[in-house]
Amino acid sequence: MCGICAVTGRRDATPIIFEGLRRLEYRGYDSAGIATLCNGQISRRRAAGKLSNLGEVLGQEPLAGTTGIGHTRWATHGVPNTTNAHPHGTSRVAIVHNGIIENFERLRSELEAAGQVFETETDSETIARLVDQYLQEGYLPQEAAFAALDRLEGAYAVAMIFAGHDGLLIGARHGAPLAVGYGDGEMFLGSDSLALAPLTRRIAYLEDGDRVVVTSEGAMFFTEDGQPAQRAIQTTAFIAGAVGKDGYRHYMEKELHEHPLVIGQTLRRMIDPARRRIALPDMPFNLAEVPRAVISACGSAFYAGMIGRYWLENIARLPVDIDVASELRYRDPPLAPGSLGIMISQSGETADTLAALRSLRGKGLSVLSVLNVEHSTMARESDVVFGTVAGPEISVASTKAFTAQLTVLACLTVALARARGAIDIAGEEELVSSLLDLPSRAAEALQQGDDIRRMAEIVAEAQDVLYLGRGSAFPVAQEGALKLKEISYIHAEAYAAGEMKHGPISLIDRSVPVVVTVPSGALFEKTLSNVQEAKARGGRILAFTDTEGAARVREIAEHVVVMPRVSEFLAPVVQVIPTQMLAYEVALLKGTDVDQPRNLAKSVTVE
Ligand code: F6R
Repeated sequence: MCGICAVTGRRDATPIIFEGLRRLEYRGYDSAGIATLCNGQISRRRAAGKLSNLGEVLGQEPLAGTTGIGHTRWATHGVPNTTNAHPHGTSRVAIVHNGIIENFERLRSELEAAGQVFETETDSETIARLVDQYLQEGYLPQEAAFAALDRLEGAYAVAMIFAGHDGLLIGARHGAPLAVGYGDGEMFLGSDSLALAPLTRRIAYLEDGDRVVVTSEGAMFFTEDGQPAQRAIQTTAFIAGAVGKDGYRHYMEKELHEHPLVIGQTLRRMIDPARRRIALPDMPFNLAEVPRAVISACGSAFYAGMIGRYWLENIARLPVDIDVASELRYRDPPLAPGSLGIMISQSGETADTLAALRSLRGKGLSVLSVLNVEHSTMARESDVVFGTVAGPEISVASTKAFTAQLTVLACLTVALARARGAIDIAGEEELVSSLLDLPSRAAEALQQGDDIRRMAEIVAEAQDVLYLGRGSAFPVAQEGALKLKEISYIHAEAYAAGEMKHGPISLIDRSVPVVVTVPSGALFEKTLSNVQEAKARGGRILAFTDTEGAARVREIAEHVVVMPRVSEFLAPVVQVIPTQMLAYEVALLKGTDVDQPRNLAKSVTVE
């Protein structure tokens, strides 16, 4: 969602901020803007649409100054036009804001009564006008900023500059992330370490409620109640080189090709290869005593959790409840004492998943989170974190983070199965051996591009597509359908294959391709029968299977993509790769904005 990049130092602020905003593009946005301080005066430039539009505006009317704030906006309150683009402000203060101010209407009425004239439909402008009001009453910048922050309800990360105070930035974090970067004679604020990647690797993360006063000399941190605080400077592992496209056309294409690498890196964290055993980090609870698990996540991460549920139930014999985080947080289910919460998130900042995490911890559960961003809010608030070592995922549509999440969940399943006595040492060694084989099988899966492109030509012509799968192939179908919707804008629905005859079968005709994931194994024949039912009604069948299932599937399907055979346990990890590749190829044919699909944001920090 919205991104913030700010700088104060010796160099021209605008190009530094502009490049920082470029690195934040992946979060999703629909307008952008920059404000700087020059000789004590605030000037700003804003534009709706892509950053190139802002670049044109800056080309016509450059912005001077060595202190400035910049923003990419993902609209919540107010349409995505230039007026509503950030920074917002007055002649005294300019602010950029990520999040939602929940009490903005009340504050707005109060400020209007006091004579403030609002220019936009946004909740964010309230922050600027509130700070301005305090400045008009004679408060100094820090006092005015803190007094305004005290009155805000909701979620925010903000950065502010003040007329007459060149060299000063004030930032705050409350439910949305903000980081401080330490440079050489210059300092930065950014929504995440990626924004700051080429500028500095020395980063301090604000804790929730923190405020920070930044000059080119350093940063002073304060807690929500105004007490000075120390925040450690960490050296981030995310370096600039990790965020290039490496010759691929899109980040999504690059990230698809990183599946084998990230699976391997993630396994190395969780497996002792010499002993063929799972080696988990220390945990503040005993796995053997966990009676039940509650999994929650959003979007693709939720589908990874669905596959995790099949594994935990079938292999570890652990009862599992699962719900999307936006529902779990309001369902208030009765929970068995000692149950383990398992949260899954690439960003570690998704507002709904964070709220579900807090609600489970509030009920006394321990929470284990499967996260890709190690300095995220969820990482700080979890009892234990299992990291997915996927590196920065820039494309809005998740790909490599998904297989990395599955890798972690598979290792956790084996560890739990062993701890609960569901498998013995030989069983653990066998499952670990198949896990160690995964990176090579994922690399083979990536070789099927030509077949997938032929399939994509059929899908790209369709207006609706049905995805089918059974057992752990059902969430694979759901992930495939989500990816197609996200990046090609074609309507797709996934059904458990056995459910089709209870309704969706009436949709089937030649114009609705049926994409089925049908790996060999216990559910192979059952799934094929469902596919036959679709074919008998004129459906065009496009199938993903494996070498063992290929001959039978070819009798029925118009196009077949054959994946390498892996154990039934790990089939979903390999089978999901071609479904993501299919979505990518269809998006290429449709000419959509693959890495930044319309209306979507990478890190969804609002409810
Ligand atoms: C789909 C996608 C989203 C995310 C979801 C959760 O391609 O990227 O559905 O999976 O928004 O995000 P995280 O994993 O950051 O919590």
